[in-house]
Amino acid sequence: MREIVVSSSIKVCLPEELSSADRQLVDEARKATQRSYAPYSRFNVGAAVRLADGTVVTGNNQENAAYPSGLCAERTALFWANAQYPQVAVDALAIAACNDAGELDAPITPCGACRQVILEVERRFGRKIRLILYGTNRCYIVEEGMEALLPLCFSADFL
Ligand code: THU
Repeated sequence: MREIVVSSSIKVCLPEELSSADRQLVDEARKATQRSYAPYSRFNVGAAVRLADGTVVTGNNQENAAYPSGLCAERTALFWANAQYPQVAVDALAIAACNDAGELDAPITPCGACRQVILEVERRFGRKIRLILYGTNRCYIVEEGMEALLPLCFSADFL
């Protein structure tokens, strides 16, 4: 038997070390947390998408009393972006979260379903999405594309 090792490179930095472009997108994601609808989890997530032409769109988690009917912030933002600008690639996605105690120290990372959707958007436009995950004491930046967070991923290549 042979073993394959799958590795990913994720950059870690302090919030103040973010570039101004990343910082701006993160700030939009942080603001979007304030507009989230999360009465059940009380966990507010914001996402900000920067398109290849510089347009920024935001989304947040939208919950529902029938829990699975809700949607995460990342998918709300990406679906909205793709619905409004179907010809424009996505360049970057920033994610931030807060709960009743305030903003989280450590960044949250997208759930599996959101990773799959981010991957699809990358494949759709043939362009890797820069992922910026915000926490008050550290940020993660993923520049390698979604395969870094979704090894052995399923995609249209199999169909
Ligand atoms: N949530 C997101 O919006 N994005 C994530 O990456 C993780 C989880 C939402 C879903 C739900 O409304 C709440 O956070 C708690 O899971």
